[in-house]
Amino acid sequence: MTLLLLVSILFATAAQNAPGAANDIREGKKLFDGMCARCHGVDGTGDEGPSLNRPTLTRAPDDESLRTVIRDGIPDRGMPRVRRLTDTELEQVVAYVRSLGRRSTGTASGDAQRGREIYTRLGCASCHIVSGQGSSFGPDLTEIGLQRGGAYLRQSVVGPAEALPRGLSLVPGRGFVEFLPVRVVTGDGREVRGVRINEDPFTIQLRDTTNQFHSYRKSDLKQLDKEFGKSLMPSFRGRITDAELNDLVAYLSGLRGAL
Ligand code: HEC
Ligand code: HEC
Repeated sequence: MTLLLLVSILFATAAQNAPGAANDIREGKKLFDGMCARCHGVDGTGDEGPSLNRPTLTRAPDDESLRTVIRDGIPDRGMPRVRRLTDTELEQVVAYVRSLGRRSTGTASGDAQRGREIYTRLGCASCHIVSGQGSSFGPDLTEIGLQRGGAYLRQSVVGPAEALPRGLSLVPGRGFVEFLPVRVVTGDGREVRGVRINEDPFTIQLRDTTNQFHSYRKSDLKQLDKEFGKSLMPSFRGRITDAELNDLVAYLSGLRGAL
């Protein structure tokens, strides 16, 4: 408590001594709220993108790498280059993101070890891979803690359809909804549900929940429904207590691959 007080006094004094820096942080926040908050959350608390209010950012440990991430985005991983920034604006965003890392966050309430047991008990591995273990119906979660914030991960478990990644469709060259649920009725009247793997004007390929691969000519199908905005991941709402959910989110947040 006293330490916290001391730190905030020191910080306030430092800010007073360097009015330029405080101004940069203020301007940086405006830019951040306009360009970054929809993915990284207001105040960098994380959402579809990872939280940024951490002292050490995995992909941006120093200011130079942070500039690179902001300037170029992280192509193919759901972080677009937002827009061209002037050098001044870039420094302001950097100053703001760094200021987030100095704030006390008060997160990480769950127990990751228990979360890992819950992950096993609920059978998440029947659809997800972590470090090579599991089944690949859904996305690989080996680096999910690096990709998504805590609130988004929580939502993924208790309301998957409300937490579909929006960012991917914005990445130039991607434009393809991943894990789109598809329902087809074949010529002989069989119904098959799965996620779309690929599609061209004449054929569609999907994988059903038992990981079987199917390929159809569209002209052979009686029906083809694409269920945009839906998820084939079952909701775990009601099957898990709040405390267990905290533990599970702590486990998922800690999955940061080999980086
Ligand atoms: C469309 C969503 C989206 C927008 C907009 C976005 N980001 Fe990201 N950002 C992501 C995702 C997803 C990742 C995780 C990429 C990965 O490593 O898998 C990420 C990663 C990062 C990282 C690396 C974090 C770490 O722990 O290493 C930084 C820093 C970052 N973003 C800053 C920003 C800033 C600053 C802005 C605004 C200029 C911004 N981002 C805009 C989605 C977004
Ligand atoms: C029947 C298969 C299935 C099961 C079981 C399942 N998931 Fe999923 N999960 C998916 C699919 C498919 C997606 C892809 C996005 C979507 O459709 O929601 C997904 C998405 C996710 C995401 C978001 C990934 C991202 O990149 O945004 C997380 C996190 C996640 N699942 C965690 C879990 C956890 C934790 C469990 C166990 C409690 C679990 N899943 C059980 C199929 C499953």
